[in-house]
Amino acid sequence: MITTQVLPATKESLEEASRLLHTGELVAFPTETVYGLGANALDREAVLSIFAAKGRPADNPLIVHIYEESQLEDLCEIPKGARPLMEKFWPGPLTILMPKKDTIPPEVTAGLPTVAMRMPSHPVARELLRVCGLPIAAPSANRSGKPSPTSSHYVYQDMQGQIPLILDGGDCDVGLESTVLDLTHGTPTILRPGGVTKEMLEEVLGPVEVAGSVLRPLKQGEVALSPGMRYRHYSPEGEVTLVQGEEADVVSALHKLCREAEEDGHSACVMCFTEHLSQLSDCHPHDIGSIHDPASTAHRLFDTLRRLDDEGMKLIFSEVVPAEGVGLAVMNRLGRAAAFRMLSASDVLAVT
Ligand code: TXA
Ligand code: MG
Repeated sequence: MITTQVLPATKESLEEASRLLHTGELVAFPTETVYGLGANALDREAVLSIFAAKGRPADNPLIVHIYEESQLEDLCEIPKGARPLMEKFWPGPLTILMPKKDTIPPEVTAGLPTVAMRMPSHPVARELLRVCGLPIAAPSANRSGKPSPTSSHYVYQDMQGQIPLILDGGDCDVGLESTVLDLTHGTPTILRPGGVTKEMLEEVLGPVEVAGSVLRPLKQGEVALSPGMRYRHYSPEGEVTLVQGEEADVVSALHKLCREAEEDGHSACVMCFTEHLSQLSDCHPHDIGSIHDPASTAHRLFDTLRRLDDEGMKLIFSEVVPAEGVGLAVMNRLGRAAAFRMLSASDVLAVT
């Protein structure tokens, strides 16, 4: 076990972080999406220690973070269509797959011929990338299978004793991981939806597809375009069930399901919009933001899922958002957290 320091980002702590990265150690740092667990992307041993610290399967590739576009030259080819996207959305929550060059060790890409490239916009991430001058390979800084950490507190919970330093940058703005876009196979395809939406990408690129497995489980024998989609993900310990339907029905159904679960002796709660908190006040409501603002739900979702674990909730009933705009990213994560268990509110209310 080593001692894990959590430090605010100052000139001194950033220099210490840079020194650690240059000597093959891991450093966790904030980005605008979620916290990342970083290593020098050009150092195989350091990259392998990311997999060990997270308990991550070796066949799930990492994202490489850069400070400026000129770094791409040594690392990858730039696919058609990437330039205008980089111009518009970098720095920001968009990750683009690019054919890799030999400088990137195969451990980073799990042997794939493409490397996922991202230029984060968070000032601490940018300053770290600038000071260390390295491309940084970084997955989300959670133990594999846990929701991604949106504050240094959750990074510490998962990585305590395993890494020397966590740079603290407060709560992450977006709250969900970046959009992962594949431009290397014909029609541009979103492998993982995020803060940069399909609609935003289409304004620049024209038609964009969404990988089939974004809103459903993989079919038997189906190959995941993005290896990360294969794994049980974003799961709290308790069982999450989603409830869809007319707004008033959903609120009544959540109430009914939660009361019944408690009568059966389970610790149960609901995840609901701010607007429904008072109607569900006797159901341990967890606020998932405004019904009118899916970005607020994105911002709070992982924090809420983590809290449910801390509270030991066993049965969790949640509202859903329309799967459009940022809502697509929310439903991708929420769907996986619920193992795609979904009830219709009217069906729930019809059972007496
Ligand atoms: O917002 C984010 O993207 C955060 C912050 C830290 O930058 N990072 C992050 O990394 O979420 P991670 O490792 O948790 O998720 C990376 C996803 C995985 O689903 C992985 O399978 C996919 O990107 N991916 C990475 N390289 C890929 C490649 N070459 N081909 C297909 N999918 C890839
Ligand atoms: Mg992750």
